[in-house]
Amino acid sequence: MRIAVIGSGYVGLVAATCFADSGNDVVCVDIDEAKVEGLKQGIIPIYEPGLEEMVERNTRVGRLSFTTNLAEAVKPAEVVFIAVGTPEGENGDADLQYVLAAARDIGRAIERYTVVVNKSTVPVGTADRVREEIAAVTRVEFDVVSNPEFLKEGAAIEDFVKPDRVVIGTNSERAREIMAELYAPFCRKSDRILFMDNRSAELTKYAANAMLATRISFMNEIARLCERVDADVDMVRQGIGSDSRIGLAFLYAGASFGGSCFPKDIKALYSTARENGLDFELLRAVTNVNAEQKRILLTKALRHFGNNIEGMTFGVWGLAFKPKTDDMREAPSIVLIEGLLGKGARVVAHDPVAHRTARKIFGDRIGYADTPYGAVEGVDALFLVTEWNEFRRPDFERMKRLMKQPVIFDGRNVFEPKKMRERGFTYYGIGRGRDA
Ligand SMILES: NC(=O)c1ccc[n+]([C@@H]2O[C@H](COP(=O)([O-])OP(=O)(O)OC[C@H]3O[C@@H](n4cnc5c(N)ncnc54)[C@H](O)[C@@H]3O)[C@@H](O)[C@H]2O)c1
Repeated sequence: MRIAVIGSGYVGLVAATCFADSGNDVVCVDIDEAKVEGLKQGIIPIYEPGLEEMVERNTRVGRLSFTTNLAEAVKPAEVVFIAVGTPEGENGDADLQYVLAAARDIGRAIERYTVVVNKSTVPVGTADRVREEIAAVTRVEFDVVSNPEFLKEGAAIEDFVKPDRVVIGTNSERAREIMAELYAPFCRKSDRILFMDNRSAELTKYAANAMLATRISFMNEIARLCERVDADVDMVRQGIGSDSRIGLAFLYAGASFGGSCFPKDIKALYSTARENGLDFELLRAVTNVNAEQKRILLTKALRHFGNNIEGMTFGVWGLAFKPKTDDMREAPSIVLIEGLLGKGARVVAHDPVAHRTARKIFGDRIGYADTPYGAVEGVDALFLVTEWNEFRRPDFERMKRLMKQPVIFDGRNVFEPKKMRERGFTYYGIGRGRDA
């Protein structure tokens, strides 16, 4: 099949590459000239495990190419994916300007029946708006399909080629057949395609993210309670997660959720509800709990150091919003570091892949260490913010020798409180008993 993918970000680039890898001819489009120029030379703009090699392989055999010329990519395509950003707009709703601009350009370019697929996360009713935009500029036949993406950054390729499910919203039999054929290679073991109407598909994506975020905020509230009643949130997690009705996934308390999706998607869903006369109270609570949770490490540090950290130096392990990505959108590390700097402290950070992203945010206002140990030299305390695997088994004796004070604020409950105290650290986790 000939495919065009509009938008070469975390979703577009992964989808395009995986479709190319299953034998399709894919052209990936972006308006960012530097990004496209880099991609043409094999420079991948993001860190995603396995992606570079897969892009290289498919570009080499000519199944995957990159361009800034949308019309040229769209004209020969049978299926066109829209995978552009849908950032938070005014009042928390999703800003659809990039989706609608792409739709208009697609409408102007198509010359024969085309399936236009919304892969961006878009509010209920967007398929209708995209249909209107295209219909306003063409007489050519087309269908608009809603195909939200559920991949996780850090495991994007794995998720894309082995999806739990593929949600396809359409009422067109013709589009349905084409989409089924396109996704067949990824659903060989069992039929994982769920066909539904456009609106249900659009809502499914938001509902999934809202449910996952709710679980996290719920556990963070339980963690707060644990600190008051001297219980251990990790015991509670195992205790409830082993109930098959609840399950263990997404039950970790920690220093808040971030990323490009959860925060904005919850706000957009809340906004959709409000526009339709529903005050979705639960979502408001999820967002509020998370906002407070973003400040929890700084709050704990201020309490420990008697409210004065001016002139102190702090190490930060992990800048990306989660492991295995360089994405720092809405990362908890940003709130923590800005808070520390605002109180007159110095910060030295280490992240295995996110220094380039972090420099765009902090510039030279913080130090960047090449190794985890470089980020604990002479520090008054260490904050563990992202649970990269390499932080799980450090040389604690070496750390103690390097640190000015052996104090650790573990924002991901990576370490065992009792063991850490035995090792001679002053240790703070999230919800691990009464806070010291
Ligand atoms: N990142 C994720 O993990 C994830 C997962 C599931 C769904 N989503 C959703 O997918 C969508 C894309 O997210 P992302 O993280 O890939 O965004 P991104 O910001 O990484 O990439 C979007 C790309 O689209 C390009 N673009 C914007 N307008 C364009 C146009 N008119 N023509 C061509 N290119 C254009 C931008 O230059 C950018 O490179 C969003 O709606 C997001 O909510 C993201």
